[in-house]
Amino acid sequence: MALRSWCMKKAFSYSCLFTIRRHLFSVLPIQKPSKTQTCCHVKTVSGKLNLQITGHNGICSDSDVHHISDNSDEDLSYSPRSVEDSSEEIKHVPVMVKKVLEVLNPQQGQLFIDMTFGAGGHTKAILTENPEARVVCVDRDPLAFSYAQELAKSYKPGQVLTCLGKFSETPQILYQLGITPGSVDGILFDVGASSMQYDQSNRGFSLSRDSPLDMRMDQGRDPDSVTAMDVVNHLSVQELRDIIKKYGEDHIANQIAHAIVEARYVMGKITTTKQLAEVIENVFEEKILRDKLNRKSHVATRTFQALRIFVNNELNEINNGLEVAYHYLKPGGVCVGISFHSLEDRIFKRHFHGIEMDEAKNLSVKQKSRMMRDHHQKYDKELIKIILKKRWIPVSKKVTTPEEEEVLENPRSRSAKLRAAIKSADV
Ligand SMILES: C[S@@+](CC[C@H](N)C(=O)[O-])C[C@H]1O[C@@H](n2cnc3c(N)ncnc32)[C@H](O)[C@@H]1O
Repeated sequence: MALRSWCMKKAFSYSCLFTIRRHLFSVLPIQKPSKTQTCCHVKTVSGKLNLQITGHNGICSDSDVHHISDNSDEDLSYSPRSVEDSSEEIKHVPVMVKKVLEVLNPQQGQLFIDMTFGAGGHTKAILTENPEARVVCVDRDPLAFSYAQELAKSYKPGQVLTCLGKFSETPQILYQLGITPGSVDGILFDVGASSMQYDQSNRGFSLSRDSPLDMRMDQGRDPDSVTAMDVVNHLSVQELRDIIKKYGEDHIANQIAHAIVEARYVMGKITTTKQLAEVIENVFEEKILRDKLNRKSHVATRTFQALRIFVNNELNEINNGLEVAYHYLKPGGVCVGISFHSLEDRIFKRHFHGIEMDEAKNLSVKQKSRMMRDHHQKYDKELIKIILKKRWIPVSKKVTTPEEEEVLENPRSRSAKLRAAIKSADV
């Protein structure tokens, strides 16, 4: 009997491991564009667990210069709360609304897509600014989707359309809704997790709530999807280290990965946020870290963030979403991206500024052609034409950050970065 249960456990373990490994390989490369997307230049990547992406408009390049900012949109101040005192009311304050409206400038009859509906803060702002605008509300989280459906009831039929799905699934959904490529006036991305996702006591996003380690934004819509619990209990030290290092940018990723694997041997399985936070705490001497701005953050924050990004395939999703946005916008239509993490911001930046993902530095066209000559590459006029063709025209060169007043009122906004670009007519 004992042997039978051991065998069953093992069989479960192996099937789980298989699913995660499959996820690992599907997550790390940039996903192939769907047929409806015009992203033939998206190259795929290395096969193994090599998180470095080498392709135009891909995700990460280690040589990219960026600062490690406050990489979490969760309130980092650590205040452990029990499950009992968790309130689950809807509260999510939209970020940089004034700037979003200024850039989108909604006009009567115009069509917008809010790719990250959340609690609908930005959608509501668009509709308040122009009650005759139309909005398609997308979110992968069934809870956010239900809020969108509720909101749609207060508007004329067809004015607020709702979609449950992730960015990479939107082409199919938009097709079903009758939205055609090249017909949209403005698209908004406000990426990352919402306050509701952090605040719900059973989702596993938050360090300050003890709950099962889940972290799936889709909430099990796909029964095969991988949870944070699967990841921490089945991946090797090396794989965990790479995830924590790449997505959490934690300099002691190796020690954390070792501690997780050792804890698995001792505990059997890590199942809750509290258990994982404690395992990570033991790696650090100081339990509270301070960032460059002297703000408190729990030592496990970066690992939690890394797991969330990995579980939800967030960076590939943004990359994919921006291709969808490009395809669906009218020439002259505008795309706005708000992000809370330097890796996310880099994807918006690289798309909008037409920077190749594997470029060491942000080279000018002149520098690029000089380099080609220096490397005795054929001076190919067609190639130069492709380089010169801009897909996006950035609204401003620099990233926009929230004003001090907004940060004081809504501390969650403090690490937000906004970029916007217009779809070029020169295509
Ligand atoms: C920061 S919140 C957006 C908040 C919203 N702008 C508001 O004002 O209420 C991010 C939302 O985007 C959703 N999301 C994140 N990645 C997504 C993806 N790849 N596809 C669809 N929705 C996504 C999350 O489920 C979450 O609800």
